[in-house]
Amino acid sequence: MATSRLNSVLDAFEGLTPDPSWAFLELTQKQTAYATHGYHRYPAKFIPQLAARLIQSYSREGELVVDPFMGSGTTLVEAKLLRRPSVGADINPVAHLIAQAKTQAIEPERLAHALSILAEQIATSYQPNLFTALPTLQSKTRHECWGERLLYWFSEATLRQLAQIHRAIDSLDVSAERIFAYCALSHTLKSVSYWHDRSVKPMRKLDKRIPDARVVFLRHLKRMARGNREFWNLQVQRNALTVPTTPLCTDARQLPVEDGSASLIVTSPPYVTSYEYADLHQLSVLWFGWAGDLREFRERFIGRSNGVHEPRGELHSRLATQIVEQIAETSPRKAREVALYFEEMYDCFREMRRMLKRGGHACIVIGNTRLCGVEVQNAQVFAEQLETLGFTLERVILREIPSKILPRTRDKATGKFAKTAEADAIAYPVEYILVARL
Ligand SMILES: C[S@@+](CC[C@H](N)C(=O)[O-])C[C@H]1O[C@@H](n2cnc3c(N)ncnc32)[C@H](O)[C@@H]1O
Repeated sequence: MATSRLNSVLDAFEGLTPDPSWAFLELTQKQTAYATHGYHRYPAKFIPQLAARLIQSYSREGELVVDPFMGSGTTLVEAKLLRRPSVGADINPVAHLIAQAKTQAIEPERLAHALSILAEQIATSYQPNLFTALPTLQSKTRHECWGERLLYWFSEATLRQLAQIHRAIDSLDVSAERIFAYCALSHTLKSVSYWHDRSVKPMRKLDKRIPDARVVFLRHLKRMARGNREFWNLQVQRNALTVPTTPLCTDARQLPVEDGSASLIVTSPPYVTSYEYADLHQLSVLWFGWAGDLREFRERFIGRSNGVHEPRGELHSRLATQIVEQIAETSPRKAREVALYFEEMYDCFREMRRMLKRGGHACIVIGNTRLCGVEVQNAQVFAEQLETLGFTLERVILREIPSKILPRTRDKATGKFAKTAEADAIAYPVEYILVARL
C-alpha cells in the first residue's frame, strides 16, 4: 500500500473531538432499555438509539442490514422497527438465545396465557431429586463433571428450583414462548448463583444472600412481558410485524448472506483480550449444556486470550505490525494474541466486503485500549485494513461513552470496577464509529 494513502486514513483521526450528539447523554436507563432491550444483561451492548441513527442515516426501508457480531441483537431489533430486513450472527449461543427472544414479538394476549400456564406449573410441580431434575443430561460421565461444575456455582436448593423452572418451560407448546422463557431463565442465573454481583469476571461470593430462583424468574418474566407488549405495539404502529429478522449462531467470518446483497453493516466487534465473552456467560452455557468443553468453546471467540495459536503473519496494516512489535518487547504472548486478533478481524472485514453491495456502508463501533503500556489503536488499524480491502473511510465519529453504560476503569485482578486512582486498566471512555463505504 502506498504511504500517502496510509497517511490519509490516519489523518482522519487527527484533531478529532467528541461529537456530543453521539453520546446520547440525555437518555435515561429506561429509554435505552425500552421494548425488548432490557431482556438480558450483555457486556458492551449498543445503545439502541445509536444503532437506529446509523441505520436511518445509511440505509432505506426494505434494504438488508447485517450485524456480524450481533451480541444481544440490538441492531436487529432497531432494523426491524425501521422496516429493514436484517441478519445477525454471534458465535456465542447465549447471544443467539437473547437475540432470538429480543427480535421475536409475541402477540401479548397469547404470551399472557402461556405465562400464566408456566407460573401455575412452577407453583404446583415438585422436583424431589436433584439429578433426575437437571436438564440435558445425557451420559453418566457428562452428568458427573457437569453436576460438579453446577454445584460450584449454585446451591442444591437453587439447582432444584432452576430445574423446576426449566421443566415447566420445556412443556410449553410454542417455540417462541419457550425461547422467551429460556431467555428469562438465562438472565436469572447470575443473581441466584454465587457469582459476585459486582464482578464481571467469574468470581464467587459464598456468603451471598441467594433469593428463590422461582421468584426472581417470575418477576423478570413479567418485566419482559411488558417489554414484549411495547415491542409488539410499536411494530403494529409501524407495520413492521412481517419484516424478516434472522439471528444466527455462527462465525462472523462465514455468513450465509448472498454476495453483494447487504446495504449496511452496523456492528461492534469484540475487543482484544478485554472481556472473555465465553467466561462471562459460562453460567448459561453450563446450564443449557451448550459447551461440553469450555476450553474448546473459548477458542471460537475473536479477541480471546486463551487458545491462541501462532498467527499466519499478515496483518494488512502497518500500524498493527508496529503495535504488535512494541507489545512483543514486554510480552511475546500478548503480542501473539493481538496479532491473531487483527488477523481474524481482517477476515471478518473481507466477509463484510463480500456481503455488501457497491456503495453500501460498514459502520464499525470500536474503542482503543492499552496493553503492556502500548496503546492498541484498534480503530486506526481497522481503518487501514478496510482501506486495503477497497473501502473508503467516509467519516470517523468520536463519541464519549456515558459512564453509566461502561465504567472508565476496572481492576485487573478482580474485574471489579475501580476508582480511577486504583485502577490498572482503562476501559473505553471514548470510542470511534468508522463509517466506510464500498
Ligand atoms: C461488543 S459485542 C457486540 C454487542 C452488541 N452490539 C449488542 O448490542 O449486544 C461483540 C460480540 O462478538 C461476538 N463474537 C466473538 N467472536 C465471534 C466470532 N468469531 N463470530 C461471531 N461473533 C463473535 C461475541 O460473542 C460478542 O457477543
